[in-house]
Amino acid sequence: MISRHRFSVDDYRSAARRRLPKIVFDYLEGGADDESGLRRNRDAFGAWELRPRRLIDVSRRDQSTTLFGSQLPAPLVIAPTGLNGAFWPRGDLALARAAHKAGIPFALSTASNMSIEEVAQGASGELWFQLYVVHRDLARSLVRRARAVGYSTLILTVDVAVNGFRARDLRNGFAMPFRPSMRVAVDGLSHPRWLWFYLTNGTLELKNFATDDASSTAAQAAVLRREMDASFGWDDLRRLRDEWPGTLLVKGIVTPEDAARCVEAGVDGVVVSNHGARQLADLPTPIDELPAICDAVGATPVLCDSGIRCGADVIKAVALGARAVMLGRATLYGLAAAGEHGVSDVIELLKRDVDRTLALLGCPSTGLLDHSYVARRRPV
Ligand code: FNR
Repeated sequence: MISRHRFSVDDYRSAARRRLPKIVFDYLEGGADDESGLRRNRDAFGAWELRPRRLIDVSRRDQSTTLFGSQLPAPLVIAPTGLNGAFWPRGDLALARAAHKAGIPFALSTASNMSIEEVAQGASGELWFQLYVVHRDLARSLVRRARAVGYSTLILTVDVAVNGFRARDLRNGFAMPFRPSMRVAVDGLSHPRWLWFYLTNGTLELKNFATDDASSTAAQAAVLRREMDASFGWDDLRRLRDEWPGTLLVKGIVTPEDAARCVEAGVDGVVVSNHGARQLADLPTPIDELPAICDAVGATPVLCDSGIRCGADVIKAVALGARAVMLGRATLYGLAAAGEHGVSDVIELLKRDVDRTLALLGCPSTGLLDHSYVARRRPV
């Protein structure tokens, strides 16, 4: 049952902001550079309007879709996000379980606070694993581990050759290993609900790298600073394709040229994403690039994220060619506000929003959406 007090993703955002210390909320919310990309990601959805059809039978509506052989009740996937344990204890599992309940896939980040194995053990449902290549041998071992415990899909994120410039995190001293300052202590103490959970659930670790030796601490610090193997290229992608027999997606594509190269390299799908404007502010907005990218890849499925906050956003992305969208901050607001229940609530309210939007648009099924249901808003 959806909360009786929260009616939109923005309501969950407000609740998350109240519950989290500023340093943690800033990590969740922040963008790269001057943060102008955050606003552009949202404005880009507003620049498309919906074009309804009247006198259509919409007494039954269907938003289910087939994605890489799986039947999903809605075109939604939970995006990979690092440090979910900072938002809620065992946050990775809370997201995975809520996704399973809703019948949608959950993508576990390389920078998760629970290990690949722990999440597979604690949650059924469709699990995807997102790979950051910090070190090639380490990457190979992560991929093998994900395969061994049944992750169906590997997402290679390619927009983090180095860490983006995030002023909020730098100012707040958000880093690993975490060294609390007086300001951070006061921040924590003024958020007692969060602090209680935090203190009773042990320190945050990047569990995929947690071993007893020093190389583990170094690897964790490198992932958190996103010190990736910046030499990873197209030949490496082709090798990864050979090594991973499951579904392989590349995330972080924003141009048709790169999307076409991904298809040539044998991937099964691309995720059009600017990383929620967290890496480089001046990137194209994914929703606007969708039509050209879908043209460039033909029948290869395209997913989209960055700025999805309501049902109309989902409808616009699907109408412009996305097979499904990924939810980043939207489900994290739910997690930070109320744990697994909060995530379930956000998914449910987005599904209801999609359903209502379909009805008001005069379109009985997301499968029927195409470009004719959207248009560029005329400048006023
Ligand atoms: C992310 N994102 C991300 N992506 C990824 O491939 N690996 C990761 O570890 C993370 N970590 C991460 C942490 C946090 C706090 C956020 C908000 C985002 C990016 C994420 O997968 C997705 O692309 C964006 O969140 C989509 O934009 P919206 O929906 O947040 O606007």
